[in-house]
Amino acid sequence: MGRLQTLLPLISLALSLSGLSSGKPLNKCRNVPGDAGFPDANAWGTLNETVGGRLAPVVPFPEFCRSLPAGECTDEQWTSGLFRSGVAGAMDMINFEQGYDLTPPSLCFRNSTVCGQGDVPLYAVEAETVADVQAAVKFAADNNLRLAIKSSGHDLLGRSTAPNSLLIHMAKFKDMAFTDSFVVGGEDLGSALTVGPGVHLQDVFKESKTHGKIAVGGSAATVSPAGGYLQGAGHSLISPLFGLGADNVLEFQVVVASGELLKANSVEHSDLFFALRGGGAGSWGVITSATFRTYPAFNATLSVIQFALDSHAAAGAIAGVHAKHIFALDAVRGGQYFFVIPSVELNKQTFWLMTVTANTTLEEGKALLQPYLDDAMEVEGATLIVKTFEQRVINDALYAEDDSIGENSVMGSRLIPTEAYEREDAPEVVEKVYRELLDAGAGAIIGSLVAGGQVSANANISSAITPAWRTAKTHVIAATVWPDSASLSEINTYRHLFHTSHLAILEQLSGPNAGAYSNEADIYEADFQTTFFGPNYPKLTQIKKKYDPEDLFVVAAGVGSERWDEFGMCRV
Ligand SMILES: Cc1cc2nc3c(=O)[nH]c(=O)nc-3n(C[C@H](O)[C@H](O)[C@H](O)COP(=O)(O)OP(=O)(O)OC[C@H]3O[C@@H](n4cnc5c(N)ncnc54)[C@H](O)[C@@H]3O)c2cc1C
Ligand SMILES: *[C@@H]1O[C@H](CO)[C@@H](O)[C@H](O)[C@H]1NC(C)=O
Ligand SMILES: *[C@@H]1O[C@H](CO)[C@@H](O)[C@H](O)[C@H]1NC(C)=O
Ligand SMILES: *[C@@H]1O[C@H](CO)[C@@H](O)[C@H](O)[C@H]1NC(C)=O
Ligand SMILES: *[C@@H]1O[C@H](CO)[C@@H](O)[C@H](O)[C@H]1NC(C)=O
Ligand SMILES: *[C@@H]1O[C@H](CO)[C@@H](O)[C@H](O)[C@H]1NC(C)=O
Repeated sequence: MGRLQTLLPLISLALSLSGLSSGKPLNKCRNVPGDAGFPDANAWGTLNETVGGRLAPVVPFPEFCRSLPAGECTDEQWTSGLFRSGVAGAMDMINFEQGYDLTPPSLCFRNSTVCGQGDVPLYAVEAETVADVQAAVKFAADNNLRLAIKSSGHDLLGRSTAPNSLLIHMAKFKDMAFTDSFVVGGEDLGSALTVGPGVHLQDVFKESKTHGKIAVGGSAATVSPAGGYLQGAGHSLISPLFGLGADNVLEFQVVVASGELLKANSVEHSDLFFALRGGGAGSWGVITSATFRTYPAFNATLSVIQFALDSHAAAGAIAGVHAKHIFALDAVRGGQYFFVIPSVELNKQTFWLMTVTANTTLEEGKALLQPYLDDAMEVEGATLIVKTFEQRVINDALYAEDDSIGENSVMGSRLIPTEAYEREDAPEVVEKVYRELLDAGAGAIIGSLVAGGQVSANANISSAITPAWRTAKTHVIAATVWPDSASLSEINTYRHLFHTSHLAILEQLSGPNAGAYSNEADIYEADFQTTFFGPNYPKLTQIKKKYDPEDLFVVAAGVGSERWDEFGMCRV
């Protein structure tokens, strides 16, 4: 007894030393309502005053809908990325609003009469100024709160929401500024665009068109480049021409855990700049603006082709034929989406291709796809239902009016190395993999030919982009979707289907050590450190320690998340 008592102070000293970085011991868990350290109403009131009254309680999206004058959301609102991006409690993939893993599960469906808060934050700062962001960051740090950051709520891993958290919602940061000469460290880096995280890709394409410019961005309406897109990598149909979104970033402004606003570029805080380009969304601080290159706009051929498919065998066969022609666009550094996706109207799977080739005439654009089309027309069980070719200025070729979302969906993915398609038997391997994925319950197989070309040529850029991007040809996602009517045990099976089933199938094509794109991936990825970040992980860990020593910014499968439970609530 006496011996133990003399040891205790030593043990606690050792414990506090092991967690020591800023002189005080690290808290094991974040404060939640009911904890002595959780801020009282006065403290929240003070924060609210500091942020100009822009602190609001967050309600789950279905409750938000019921509070509307109509008493509900229309189907159009429910599935609109644009509509959801303005609502603090909304995620694009509605499964991430649910607290499936809370004890007991806390749920709120569209038709629920009683709603739990689920994984939706408790409060949100609807930030309008950098000072708002700084106040929220400091409040979370001082009160040991779980912090979440959201721009559009597009995240496919649910990383922009967390139970019992304080949310910083960046949707109101809508500034955009064009310049012909962006200067860093005295050097003129040329034509560039600076945007806040509330700016969506559709805004970028629309506004840059009026300036005769284009920037690298995916064909999504509401994804925020200054949110998660660039931190993950940012792929686009014009990436083979100009590289990844992150390859084109010149500077970020970011509020880090200390509350300071830092400029991160090639000369200032260049280690943070390294991490913010590919080191994963949500792990570094709150981005308040991002500046990236713009290029002169050009005309392109935009093609959409769609086949209705009678069977999984037909889907495999048409994907195999596609693989055979995968290098057909290389000469013009074309980009292409190739999706196996269900058509609601037809009630069957389809193979949908969207292709963009720069500076080609309509005839040239058609000629590039003709050998593929000739072979695809021979596939049994595949019927051509759409074939369009048109000339558009590139901004309009990439522009999307809205994103149709609002469903339950998870995914996993691999970057498929060029090597895999160079194998003699590549078409057969692809055919088998697609057929098996569909047989194993994949709801969609989403392929993007967005690598090679300049993405490979940018291998010498010093950033956190995993080298797997530089040797890849395509990025292939296996997605799983389910209806609200699914039981909890079915949902748990679906949520884990990628690593329990689809991954082994996909690896027949990608090989066992392929990397994956962290923004479109499986949150349960076993070795996410290597799969998402490759050899950069140790360096990212060091940068994280320097700028965020107490892990204020934690997201699932993000840098440092191995130190936390799945909610980012307690250290493990
Ligand atoms: C319909 C659809 C289409 C897509 N198309 C593409 C595509 O073509 N190419 C591509 O590369 N990706 C694409 N994505 C994936 C997209 O890049 C990611 O979902 C990305 O994380 C979205 O970022 P966001 O800020 O818009 O989303 P959010 O859900 O708001 O945030 C995503 C992540 O970024 C963090 N974050 C958000 N804002 C900030 C901020 N201001 N500072 C710091 N961290 C922040 C969040 O914490 C979270 O971890 C698509 C996604 C969807 C749903
Ligand atoms: C913050 O202040 C505004 C304006 O005074 C008020 O409408 C809002 O309800 C307050 N937020 C909270 C969480 O109390
Ligand atoms: C909600 O209920 C309505 C009417 O009962 C039904 O049409 C709709 O499909 C339900 N929606 C969901 C998401 O369950
Ligand atoms: C694109 O084509 C249109 C019509 O053919 C032409 O007027 C325009 O100048 C072209 N734009 C570019 C950037 O080449
Ligand atoms: C398109 O063609 C124009 C005119 O030849 C050229 O200046 C521009 O670099 C080309 N753009 C691309 C993306 O190839
Ligand atoms: C990468 O290599 C290219 C050509 O080899 C060169 O132009 C470019 O400056 C290099 N970039 C970096 C960051 O080293």
